[in-house]
Parts: sequence; structure tokens; C-alpha cells
Amino acid sequence: MAISGYDKHQFGHRLNEVLFASQPIQSREHLFGREQELDRIEKALFASGRHIFIYGDRGVGKSSLAATAANQYQSSDAEYIDIGCSPDATLKSIVANIAYQAIDASRLRKTKITASIGLEFRYLKAALASETTQSNLHDEIVSLADAVEVLREAASLHSDQPIVVLDEFDRITAPEERAAFADLLKHMGDKKVPLKLIFTGVGKSLDELLGAHQSAIRQLEGIELPKLSWDARWDIVIKAASSFNVSVDKEIYIRIAAVCDGYPYYAHFITEKMLWCAFDDPKLVTQIEWDHYHTGLRVAIESISAELKRPYQEAVNKRSSEYEEVLWATADSEYLDRFMKAMFSSYEYIMKQRRDSTVLTYEKFCARVRKFRDKKFGAILVNDPGNPGLYTYREKMQRGYVRMQAEAHGIELAGEKIEQTVKQTMRVPSSLSKGYYGSKPPPGIHWGRERRNGDESSND
Ligand SMILES: Nc1ncnc2c1ncn2[C@@H]1O[C@H](COP(=O)(O)OP(=O)(O)OP(=O)(O)O)[C@@H](O)[C@H]1O
Ligand SMILES: [Mg+2]
Repeated sequence: MAISGYDKHQFGHRLNEVLFASQPIQSREHLFGREQELDRIEKALFASGRHIFIYGDRGVGKSSLAATAANQYQSSDAEYIDIGCSPDATLKSIVANIAYQAIDASRLRKTKITASIGLEFRYLKAALASETTQSNLHDEIVSLADAVEVLREAASLHSDQPIVVLDEFDRITAPEERAAFADLLKHMGDKKVPLKLIFTGVGKSLDELLGAHQSAIRQLEGIELPKLSWDARWDIVIKAASSFNVSVDKEIYIRIAAVCDGYPYYAHFITEKMLWCAFDDPKLVTQIEWDHYHTGLRVAIESISAELKRPYQEAVNKRSSEYEEVLWATADSEYLDRFMKAMFSSYEYIMKQRRDSTVLTYEKFCARVRKFRDKKFGAILVNDPGNPGLYTYREKMQRGYVRMQAEAHGIELAGEKIEQTVKQTMRVPSSLSKGYYGSKPPPGIHWGRERRNGDESSND
């Protein structure tokens, strides 16, 4: 037995209690690096009529923050109302869905509602009376005023202090349906409906999600979620290992923090695979070794979700290794948007370590990079619409996968080089987090090859 005190079954179960690669975090103890955002949400929710909108890149941790904040706010007499938005969702369908969930919650609590049905619950009367919740509530919501009253009834049925998470709001295709929510919130405020909403959505701004006219409403507190800070990234690794009384060398956890590119999914996934490798080790493990990390990383790359793997495979598919080397160069540095020359200097750095490969000329390198925008090459890169000389990842999270691949091939990309000076005690408070770059990198992390002087003004 390689990790003292656990058989496979116990180990697997315990691992599932401390690592969450496949589901959003629900509670504060597992949510790292989001204290500031949680605090802001908590304070904003005190204000009557105020709701929350969490937005940012895919995979950055929006649903986790929303769920944790909702659990914190929701009174203990019920679970918060959880709505996943689908492409064809409308304001009406969502309001009806909230009402159905409120009815279910009240049934679960066996609230005595029969006496008051006729008086209090005008809209929900039919739904409450029928055994199932599949009434035609949807048809009863004709105007915005109806929607507001349905929500008022739902709130009073549901619990003392109800809150709704409207997850993946960006998936609603019709812009007019999304925009209608701003009006709904205004009306709810005017009518003092005691129900809070937390929206989440993939996007750079609220304008993008609600429309420019609607995004400025006073009823919404917008929370733009950056990538995870350095200390939060390695807390995921350290805390998970320590629950098995296993320590992780600082160089290894910093490595994972750098490779995951600020996306918590990768940190959870690599750590999960790494801890299984430790478990499978025939000798007793009290400290994670490089071998566990390297094998874990390889297993993670193999078994990562197909959606993240596919564009990489399409980009390098059956092509010579030169494509792979060029692709790694695009994922070097902490900058998401990069000029060709800066990427080429990353490429030169990579090729110094790839002695057996042919080095491409600058012109050939540029041609390869441009190909990564084509569908045939996974459409992994796009040009910045505001500055066509800048290249960025179409799906930012994809960059983490490319970084994992480079790492598995022995290439340390910038932002991750570890020198002896890294101090274990180093902690950067997450209040210093700024934009995408999170807190400062640990001292000793290599920051070269970010951009060459003068590159800012250059096109290709
Ligand atoms: N602050 C955090 N600390 C630790 N783990 C986190 C944190 N935030 C998110 N995670 C983990 O990261 C993964 C992605 O999180 P989550 O699903 O919340 O992201 P998301 O932004 O909602 O993603 P999507 O855009 O795909 O909906 C999950 O496995 C979750 O458990
Ligand atoms: Mg989500």
C-alpha cells in the first residue's frame, strides 16, 4: 500500500472529496483565491434589489463562485434554485422553471400551503394543486408584470431567503431574451420581490451578454473573474495532497501552477492523476516525487476532455514535429495576446532545446502560425479584431493544454522556470490580483520572452 491508511476504494472516495476536476465547487473551504470576489458578492447582496453577474473566460471558475456564494446566502430551509440556461431558453421559460423548483422545494419541506392557495398564490395555484409540476405556467406569463408576480410567489414558497443561480446565461441565443432580463430586474426592484439572482456567463463584458442598453442597470453588480492567482493554484495541489498526509515539493507545485495557466480544472486534473500515481507506487509515499508528477501529467494529457484535446490534435495531426514546436511557442509567456516576433523569440528558445529538429526561418514560422487560424488546423488561434498583428487563443483555456504538452516534452515555457530562490513561505495576498495575471508570480519564475522591446508597435 503506497499511501498509508488507504485501500483503493477509500483513496478514490477521499480524492473525490478534495479534488473537483469535473464539477463546480460548492463551498468556501474548497474555493481558493476568490475571497475578494465572495466578499464583494456578500456585501452587494445586502442591498435590496441588487443582483450579481459573474462573467469571464470559459473554465475560469464562474459556476464555482456562483454556487459557493449562493450556498452562503441561501437560508438553510432549502437548497438554492439552480437553473442551467439552454440555447432556446426564454425569460418566460426560465421564470417558469424557477417557479417549478420553488414548488418542489416547498413540497420537500411539506410546507402547509393548501389553506392559502386561493389567496396568496394566484399564478402558482394550478401548479400547486396538481400532483406534478407540469402545469401550463408558461402560458400564464404573458407580460413582464406576470413574470414578476410569479417570482414573488415562487420566492415566498421556496424559503426564507431564496437565491437563484442562472448559470451559463451566454448560451441563450436570442439577444432580445437576454436583454429582457435587465427589464425584469428593474421591475423586481420596483415591486420589492425578495428574490436574488446570480448570473454567470462567458464573456468579456456585460455589454456582450446583456446588450449595451441593458448592461448599465443599477440592479446589477458585475464581477469580472480573472484567472486564478498563483497562490490559489498551488493551494489546490498542496491541500489535496495534505489530506493524505503527503507533502509536495515546492518546485513541483509551482510547476503545476505554471502549467495550468490559471485554469483550476487543469490543476485539479493533474493533481488527481499525480496522486493516483503516488497511490500506485509500490513503495510507501510520504512526499510527491518528480516521477509522480511527470507520469501524472502524461496521464492527464491522455485522458483530458476531448473538447480540449481536439484542436491540438487537429493542429499537429500527422504533421511533422515542427508544427508542434511552433504551437508551443504560441503558448509561451503569461501574455494571452502576442505579436509574431515575440512568439518567434519563444520559438528560438524552444528550438535551442530541440537539438534534433530543423529550425524554421522567420518567414516559415509566420506561415505556420497563420495556419493555426484555419479550421483544418483546429482554428486554435485568432487575430485580435482591434489589432490584427496580435494573435490570441480562440478558446483561452486551450492554451493550458498546449502548455501541458510542451511540459510533457520537457520544454519549460516562460512563467514557469524555477530557480533556487523560490521561498516556500512566499504568499501573495489575492487582494493584489489584477486582470488576467492574478497575483504576482513567485520570485524566480522566469519572465523572459514575454515581448521583445518595440514589438508592441509591430505587425507580423
Ligand atoms: N477558486 C477555485 N479553487 C479551486 N478550484 C476551482 C475554483 N474555481 C473553480 N474551480 C474548479 O475548476 C473547474 C472549473 O470551474 P467552473 O466549472 O466553476 O468554471 P466555469 O467558469 O463555470 O466554467 P465554464 O465556463 O466551462 O462553465 C471545476 O473543476 C472547479 O471545481
Ligand atoms: Mg460554468
